[in-house]
Amino acid sequence: MTGQVRGVQLARLLGQWHALPGRRRSPDYAALAGTVRGLLADGRLPLGVRLPAERELAEALRISRTTVTAAYRQLRETGHLASRRGAGSWTMLPGNHRVASTGLWTPLDDREMLDLGVAALAAPPQLLTAARAATEDLPRYLGGAGYHPTGIIELREAVADAYAARGLPTSADQIMVTSGTQHALDLVLRLALAPGGSVLVESPTYPNALAALAGRRARITTHGLAADGWEPDLLLGSLRQTRPKLAYLIPEFQNPTGHLMPAELRERVVAAAHAVGTDLVIDESFVDLPLDGTELPPPVGVYDRHSRVISIGGMSKPYWGGLRIGWVRASAPQVQRLAAVRVGVDMASPVLDQLVAVHLLADADTIVAERRVQLAVQRDALLGALAQRLPDWRVTVPRGGVTLWAELDGPVSSALARAAEEVGVRLAPGPRFGLDGTMERFLRLPFTLPAADLVEAVGRIAAVRYDLDRTGRQRWREPAVIA
Ligand SMILES: Cc1ncc(COP(=O)(O)O)c(C=O)c1O
Repeated sequence: MTGQVRGVQLARLLGQWHALPGRRRSPDYAALAGTVRGLLADGRLPLGVRLPAERELAEALRISRTTVTAAYRQLRETGHLASRRGAGSWTMLPGNHRVASTGLWTPLDDREMLDLGVAALAAPPQLLTAARAATEDLPRYLGGAGYHPTGIIELREAVADAYAARGLPTSADQIMVTSGTQHALDLVLRLALAPGGSVLVESPTYPNALAALAGRRARITTHGLAADGWEPDLLLGSLRQTRPKLAYLIPEFQNPTGHLMPAELRERVVAAAHAVGTDLVIDESFVDLPLDGTELPPPVGVYDRHSRVISIGGMSKPYWGGLRIGWVRASAPQVQRLAAVRVGVDMASPVLDQLVAVHLLADADTIVAERRVQLAVQRDALLGALAQRLPDWRVTVPRGGVTLWAELDGPVSSALARAAEEVGVRLAPGPRFGLDGTMERFLRLPFTLPAADLVEAVGRIAAVRYDLDRTGRQRWREPAVIA
């Protein structure tokens, strides 16, 4: 057991549970149980928490206790709840589920699913060639123990060169290779943030970054992104007022919104962070993926004169997530301190995978150019399908990255995600990208699947969106007390 959720808290999470799609066909207890299952699947209700006693939840929802009793019974029958007499009921998941790469739980038998929950491309064709070439290189390393806590020198040099090519002179001893960007973030947090430390993040932001911050029990404040990106005065004002220990920002094609931070704001953020003693963790996951010939502003690190900026990035978005190669760019002493932390975690990254990365980076110009063309085609297919099938949704055309952030025609994101799952489309609903269950009007749509799949997915989403209206609209207008 990891905690307990009180009746009023669960009531808040459950929101408009009585307005579920298909609601008119199902009794109250089934709608309630269905919404609890949805919260578990969305990751908004953790596993292993104790649910409120039946009477407490009934009072919080202003419904009869027998309805809650029946809902809990159904949850036990479907394997979502374990109860012990006198001790309470805990959330769990049925055995036929697994953790997906989004961090969400998904059924095991989902091969046919069009997965729009994950914003990552399949591997490029060059990956096999790079892997074969890497095995040829491997003998050079086999005479040693193979532990390189900061990474093999060839890869650190290649990554440092790429920074230099972007206008940020970097030496190999400023680079530490990690097992993906997420690992880089976790290590940086271990080094730079004491448990319970304060952190500023964008809202919405990348959910797994929030998970990493939760792991440090960080106290989080947010900067709300506007429809066209960061609001400079508010962002700088938040830094000055809250003086967080650390700020985590995604300036290039922000996940999920796709915004690109302008050069001037980069400079001002670094200056403000230095003035208040905040370290900046800059996630550059999407920096290689400007589309439509969009010019990139200088890297945030260019404005850093006091080692305030720690940049993290990796191979997952331009190349392949399965490679699990990322890195940290920091000062050489910080890299040494990170390496000391790292040996207490996983010692080092696999040598063979790092060699594969070296070969891919040697071919970066070709591979990345192809990825950009592919992504632009897929983005345009997605935009076209949305304009045709869901014309009331508002989207800003992202000039890079792999996601677009759609504003829906109502606060239905979670309900829509649940309904879409039924027709074979997995979605990451808006609240996954916020802190407190807000963002129900938004949905992140990645354009990483082939164009035909994206068009098919939008068609299915549009169909269930229409169904939501038919079954739920009445209830949205007049939230009723159900007894
Ligand atoms: C902003 C951001 N940071 C980090 C990651 C994790 O990347 P990696 O696969 O390199 O760990 C992602 C992946 O979606 C991301 O979007």
